[in-house]
Amino acid sequence: MNPTAPRCDDTAAWAALAGHWQAHGRDFDLREAFARDAGRVAALSFDAPEVFADLSKNHIDTATLHFLLELAQQCRLPERRDAMLGGAVANPTEGRAVLHTALRAPRGAGLFSDEVHTTLDAMLAYADAVRTDEGITDIVNIGIGGSDLGPAMAVRALESYTLAGQRVHFVSNVDGHDLAPLLARLDAKRTLFIVASKTFTTQETMANAEAARAWFVQQGGTDVARHFAATTTHVKAAAAFGITTTFGFWDWVGGRYSLWSAIGLPIAIAIGSANFRALLAGAHAMDRHFAQAPLAQNLPVLLGLLDVWYINFHGYASRGVAPYHQGLARLPAYLQQLEMESNGKRVDLAGRDLPFATSPVVWGEPGTNGQHAYFQMLHQGTEVIPVEFILVKTPSHALPGQHAKLLANGLAQSQALMLGKSAAEAAAESVPTADAGFDRAVLAQHRTFPGNRPSTSFVLDALTPSSLGAFLALYEHRVWTSGALWGINSFDQWGVELGKALAGRLLPRLQDGPERGRTDGLDASTAALLQRLTGARA
Ligand code: F6P
Repeated sequence: MNPTAPRCDDTAAWAALAGHWQAHGRDFDLREAFARDAGRVAALSFDAPEVFADLSKNHIDTATLHFLLELAQQCRLPERRDAMLGGAVANPTEGRAVLHTALRAPRGAGLFSDEVHTTLDAMLAYADAVRTDEGITDIVNIGIGGSDLGPAMAVRALESYTLAGQRVHFVSNVDGHDLAPLLARLDAKRTLFIVASKTFTTQETMANAEAARAWFVQQGGTDVARHFAATTTHVKAAAAFGITTTFGFWDWVGGRYSLWSAIGLPIAIAIGSANFRALLAGAHAMDRHFAQAPLAQNLPVLLGLLDVWYINFHGYASRGVAPYHQGLARLPAYLQQLEMESNGKRVDLAGRDLPFATSPVVWGEPGTNGQHAYFQMLHQGTEVIPVEFILVKTPSHALPGQHAKLLANGLAQSQALMLGKSAAEAAAESVPTADAGFDRAVLAQHRTFPGNRPSTSFVLDALTPSSLGAFLALYEHRVWTSGALWGINSFDQWGVELGKALAGRLLPRLQDGPERGRTDGLDASTAALLQRLTGARA
């Protein structure tokens, strides 16, 4: 990223957007917007590879888009995108290029193509060998953050492509309650552990890997070469751990952007090499769209601009994700890292404090489950929270009738959020509890929905390796877009370091040994908690 490019709030377009917000944005009403403009759906619907997006239920119109696109131009978004895709140092605080897109470029087409494809071929040959090895029934991926969330989400999403008789498990937490119950169910002779860590130093992963190796030896296991593999940029550290089957990748692949690299090994084992290549191809199709589509049709750019409009002008600090597909149950967790670790930043590239908000809080649950939990707040709470509905046309199960019910619910929720229900409509309804003596007019107030609550609906034809690849790449580029407009570095994560360092200093005071229970030098709250946890004080 070029630090000399103007930050969003240093542009004339930002001032123009502020004027537009005062005049038309703050009082925007979706129902009026639809009544005013018969062409609204057509104007705000977009087709990107594998993904259709209906943005018409958002607090925007073509005038808003015009101002936002002007902002993108004035922030020199196209030049900065091209620089990143061309291998410029887009992560300057770590002095690295940002080239996860090179991992999904066809052979001969992208940067570092020889290294990328040689490693990919080797990783996929190994994956297919494991997949067809009847002696291996359980694969355990040990990793955390980007070395866990993407593969865990994708393996679940693509479950219909997995083989019966082989199970892929994910262990991430340093909490022994994650690994221990799994080990109790495993047969060491039939298990493959993959130690997945970009750095091969992450405390959680190393602790779990050491515990798994100790368990394996205890079970009489001797053939570490057959039962352990590693995916890492730190090949030497994997060798020092005793692992000989290692697939590498490069420092220009960020952890949360790494499922396309060797970190995708558990996905490749689960779905096979041809399907893994389809996942990469779907992502590459979205990369080309991002690189080539005019900004006004460029879906990741439009979504990033919408994020800026919502966060910085409307003040919507949170975004709900509601995948109407049980296979996408881990998508919200994956997006939390992608978005909040990327854009949860408070200074710009020049180190200046930002006078505006950055990453939204991203959260969610699959529909329809979320409807029976948090949707109450979305419909009638005091905060406006934009929601993203992910609808899949064709299911990958054959149970009759259920998919129509699922889709009816997904459509109904976005409709209800937008249309609401007036007090008069509520008063006209007959409600059994009205007979219990509660004031009818007051009851109608409780049953009123304000409506005008924004949402985006995405439609995929089916959840396939290729559509999943395209959908995830869409989100990656969207996160880059808002980060670039805010002038931040979306590719570092210094905010995770302080806690790691403090945990390292506290550990001896919690472990058995001479320092256990010591509280000198600690703040009063931490000291009291430490005493309670070590038994020095009840
Ligand atoms: O939590 C910080 C982080 O560095 C993430 O960015 C990363 O995905 C995760 O830890 C795991 O790191 P590694 O793959 O090096 O073990």
